[in-house]
This record gives sequence, C-alpha cells and structure tokens, in this order.
Amino acid sequence: MIFKSLQEDIASIRNRDPAAHSWLEVVLCYPGLHAVLIHRLSRWCWARGFRVLGRFISHVGKIFTGIEIHPAATIGPRFFIDHGTGVVIGETAVIGADVTLYHGVTLGGTSLHKGKRHPTLEDGVIVGSGAQVLGPITVGKGARVGANAVVLTDVPPGVTMVGIPARMVMRRKETEFCAYGLGEDDLPDPVVRAIDSVRGQVSALIERVQELETELHGHPAEACGRLPRMFPSADPTVPAAPAATSNPVDHPQTAVAKSREMSS
Ligand SMILES: CC(C)(COP(=O)(O)OP(=O)(O)OC[C@H]1O[C@@H](n2cnc3c(N)ncnc32)[C@H](O)[C@@H]1OP(=O)(O)O)[C@@H](O)C(=O)NCCC(=O)NCCS
Repeated sequence: MIFKSLQEDIASIRNRDPAAHSWLEVVLCYPGLHAVLIHRLSRWCWARGFRVLGRFISHVGKIFTGIEIHPAATIGPRFFIDHGTGVVIGETAVIGADVTLYHGVTLGGTSLHKGKRHPTLEDGVIVGSGAQVLGPITVGKGARVGANAVVLTDVPPGVTMVGIPARMVMRRKETEFCAYGLGEDDLPDPVVRAIDSVRGQVSALIERVQELETELHGHPAEACGRLPRMFPSADPTVPAAPAATSNPVDHPQTAVAKSREMSS
C-alpha cells in the first residue's frame, strides 16, 4: 500500500515535471516528494493523539525541505510541490487529488478563530509560484492560479485567476495537466506576438486616419475606404474589409500619405 502510493507519487512527478528524467532523480532530488512522505508520517502521529510528535516531525521536514505542512492538513493522492522552498500549508487546508503547487505558495488563514480557516483546493488545481491563497475559500476543480496572485474569494472550476487581488482571466475547456499552467498551444511564439503587435498598430493607424478624414470631409477619404485589411483580424466580430479592386493600397504608410495629400 505505502509502496504503491510511492510509485504513484513518483510517476505523477515524472508526468508533471519535464525536468524529471528518472525515478532515482525524483527520489533523491525532489523536496516536494520528501515533504509529502514526511507529512504522511506526521499526520499518522497527529491522528493517533501524538500531536507534539506530529508537529515536531513536520518541523524537521520543514528544515530539510523548506516546505511546511501542518500535520492536520488533508492531502489527496498524487500531490506535487515543484521546487518546494517557501511553501506553507495550514492546519485546516484540504487538497484534492492531482494538485500541483510551485515554490512560495501559501495556503493560509486570514482569521484567528479555530475552525476552518484555510483554503480547499479541488482536484487538478495548479497554483503558480509565489501565489497566496487565503481564507476558507474553495478553488474549483481544474482551476489555475497565476504566479504571485493573491486569491481571496472562491474560484469557479476550470478558470484561471491572476493578479492582486486575483481576477478571472480565462475559462479552460481542457482538463489535462499543463506543466507550469501552460498548454502546449499556449507556448509564447515571439514572432507571432510581434506580428500581432504590428497588426494592432496598423489597424489603429488606419482607424485614426479614417477619423481624421471624416472630421475634415464629413466622410472617410476614398483611399482609406478602399484600404484592404492587411492582416486578418483575430477578433471574429471585426469584419474583413473588401479586397481592393483598382488602385489597391498595399501598405498602410501609402494610405496615410495618400490621405494627407488629399486633405492638403
Ligand atoms: C496564469 C497562467 C497559468 C496563465 O497562463 P496562460 O493560460 O498561458 O495565459 P496567458 O499567458 O495567455 O495570459 C492571459 C492573461 O493573463 C495575464 N497573466 C498571465 N499570468 C499572469 C500572472 N502570473 N500575473 C498577472 N497576470 C498574468 C497575461 O498578461 C494575459 O493578460 P492579457 O490578456 O491582458 O494579455 C500562467 O501565466 C502562470 O502564472 N503559471 C504559473 C507558472 C509558474 O508558477 N511557474 C513556476 C515554474 S518554476
């Protein structure tokens, strides 16, 4: 039983960390694994009434791993803390299956009363490095919390929260694990981002020229009216401009120059 859950832990770490190359490396070099094993021992003592011993084992674990898990915290299977250092998990925290935390995460309380005062993380939640999840709130199944976010309210399942205080930035469809909270399709491509940025600037420029022409003549200049949309818009609500027929304007600077000529 213990051996089976250890095997499961190692396999889940190898699945979730692209830097884990062998089971031996995981056993020797992953403080997140060591902290979970120590927590199981401290919880065993705590549950049998050896509370000071449980706290002491948890404290020794913190010295070795940099991860503090209260022995009374409830932790589900295949829990993975990547890198480890600086993680704090409070007494009444509840963590579901397949949850991933990165370094510097706090699952903390915001009050001094003795009841439930720490968060509940449902299955498959990912919490980015440095994030603080505070109070007796629930982070729904499959939700992601961005690095350094401060979460103070319940989080619906499958959403992504970022910022201080955390706000929702997107809802996810997929439920599979993404290392570092990023899907493979989401990996930033600098060329695509640069093109996106240029596209936005060109569109803004064209719109501004049209506004100026409308102010001057009461209607957009002919050249601007024929401007083809050089890059298809990512926004489906923006209709593509009709393709130019005669005298096509093939560069936004040409369009700007022409409209200046016309207005002067
Ligand atoms: C939150 C997170 C999961 C979102 O990833 P994603 O799905 O690829 O989302 P994007 O990068 O497209 O960002 C979406 C929006 O949120 C913003 N955002 C992303 N992460 C943020 C963060 N941590 N804090 C504040 N804003 C953030 C982006 O700027 C973007 O805003 P915009 O729409 O106004 O441009 C990811 O950014 C994150 O923080 N992962 C944790 C990684 C981590 O802790 N790694 C440690 C490894 S050692």
